[in-house]
Amino acid sequence: MPAPRTILLTGAAGGLGTLMRSLLPEYGYTLRLLDVRTVEGEPDAITADLADREALREAVRGVDAVVHLAGISLEAPFEKILRSNIEGTYNLYEAARQEGVPRIVFASSNHAVGFTPAPRAGDPLIPVDTPRRPDTFYGLSKSFGEDLAQLYWDKHGLETVSVRIGSCFPEPTSVRMLSVWMSPADGARLFHAALTAEEVGHTVVYGSSANTRLWWDLTTARSLGYEPQDDSEPYAEKLIAEQGGLDPENPAHSHLGGHFVNDPPIWPY
Ligand SMILES: NC(=O)c1ccc[n+]([C@@H]2O[C@H](COP(=O)([O-])OP(=O)(O)OC[C@H]3O[C@@H](n4cnc5c(N)ncnc54)[C@H](O)[C@@H]3O)[C@@H](O)[C@H]2O)c1
Repeated sequence: MPAPRTILLTGAAGGLGTLMRSLLPEYGYTLRLLDVRTVEGEPDAITADLADREALREAVRGVDAVVHLAGISLEAPFEKILRSNIEGTYNLYEAARQEGVPRIVFASSNHAVGFTPAPRAGDPLIPVDTPRRPDTFYGLSKSFGEDLAQLYWDKHGLETVSVRIGSCFPEPTSVRMLSVWMSPADGARLFHAALTAEEVGHTVVYGSSANTRLWWDLTTARSLGYEPQDDSEPYAEKLIAEQGGLDPENPAHSHLGGHFVNDPPIWPY
């Protein structure tokens, strides 16, 4: 596929959307923005809910690819997850299929495999084909999104890179995040690789930096041309001094999904 230039960025008002709004244009992309909330400082952004199929069709018309970040990003009652993350992602894929958009980069999550035991020192890294073990309805919706992406590739030839993002924030803030952190700059590198790699079909990757304490295997991400530049290790000494090391008896430390397995943060809206 020719190098994509115009990208629809859904979830543009959110934390990751705000980071990517500033970082992705450096790679030469023109961004069209969409969110159900107002995107501060972006008067041209499309304000639309993922439930609005007509608005989605219009939003994807003429773009070269979609970076799909919109959705509930924490745990919520099933009915809310169903509407925003499951039906909403279906609506987006349908709009993309109808308008002939060739590729979507889907913000999946480590919470699709959150009940997987975290590897201990010396264990092999967790591969992308580990069985899905969602830790929440939220994680379940990401698992659904990956299956939807597979269906749209097999049936319609619409390509997807599903990125099981770890934690993409300016700095790691917990001992768990030392293993799952993705720096914003590495996030932009990974999205750029996912947008430009040849013939991805449906590829599932983990999204994180090259952390010394990494839990999962970045082979499929690297196969797209992703070369992470950052490592959480410089933050380790301070975080461990403040919080203690990982406690294998603590379920929030012993599973990939962290505290989503036993005490998930709840979507406030
Ligand atoms: N930030 C991370 O570290 C991380 C980790 C794993 C997965 N993810 C995924 O990446 C995406 C972005 O994460 P984030 O941290 O920026 O979350 P966020 O909650 O800050 O942003 C999500 C955005 O989606 C919008 N949204 C929610 N429901 C919508 C709907 N029905 N229609 C239109 N817009 C809607 C919200 O208004 C919000 O601006 C999410 O899909 C999240 O699940 C993020």
